[in-house]
Amino acid sequence: MKKLAFLVALPLAFIGAAHAQAKKEDPALAVMKASFKERGQAKLDRLIQDPTMATCSKYPQAVPANIRKQVESAEMKNVKFPADGKLLGDWKLGERIAQTGVGKQFSDDPATPSGGNCYACHQLAKAEISYGTIGPSLYNFGKLRGYTDEIRKYAWGKVWNPQAYSACSNMPRFGHNSILTEEQIRHVVALLMDPESPVNK
Ligand code: HEC
Repeated sequence: MKKLAFLVALPLAFIGAAHAQAKKEDPALAVMKASFKERGQAKLDRLIQDPTMATCSKYPQAVPANIRKQVESAEMKNVKFPADGKLLGDWKLGERIAQTGVGKQFSDDPATPSGGNCYACHQLAKAEISYGTIGPSLYNFGKLRGYTDEIRKYAWGKVWNPQAYSACSNMPRFGHNSILTEEQIRHVVALLMDPESPVNK
């Protein structure tokens, strides 16, 4: 009799443990962990979500208004404005950064500066024949929004950390996640905000 109880209890204990395990880890994450192989600079830590990403993953369709506010105010604290207050660099260098998609892939040399890949999601200039449309067109951004300090600061903050203005945005957090350097962001902001830039012509 004792033996029988043991035989029944043991498999149940295993099922219980497996259930607790499955509850802890998101199945989609488990699949990614099993299939994602570390190569070059692309390490497994890329699968670790920060609190904002984890929150956004909970609402794949629509983020409730109160959660949006929470994410945006938390992320606003992560926007770093330049210590010297200089928000604008050289739009010509900014254009090169915006039109370059290289960087952060396993096959990229980590010593080479990354591009901003902006063209993959945004229209930037009239002369472009090909651009992505995941994000809104940025053609005439400065001209339409005004060449003011307020809009310059917004452009900087937006590139540094888009989540600060639009919770759960699909746009990469270029400054916050160290994809672009402060100097590169200065050039990209000039591309958006310099009246001489092709964005505003
Ligand atoms: C993966 C796609 C993607 C990439 C790459 C991307 N963006 Fe965005 N961007 C978006 C989306 C989507 C939005 C709209 C949602 C939002 O505001 O976050 C947006 C919004 C913006 C806005 C706000 C526009 C407005 O009318 O207020 C600016 C400015 C901007 N992006 C600049 C850039 C710049 C500069 C780069 C390159 C350094 C870039 N984006 C790269 C997807 C992207």
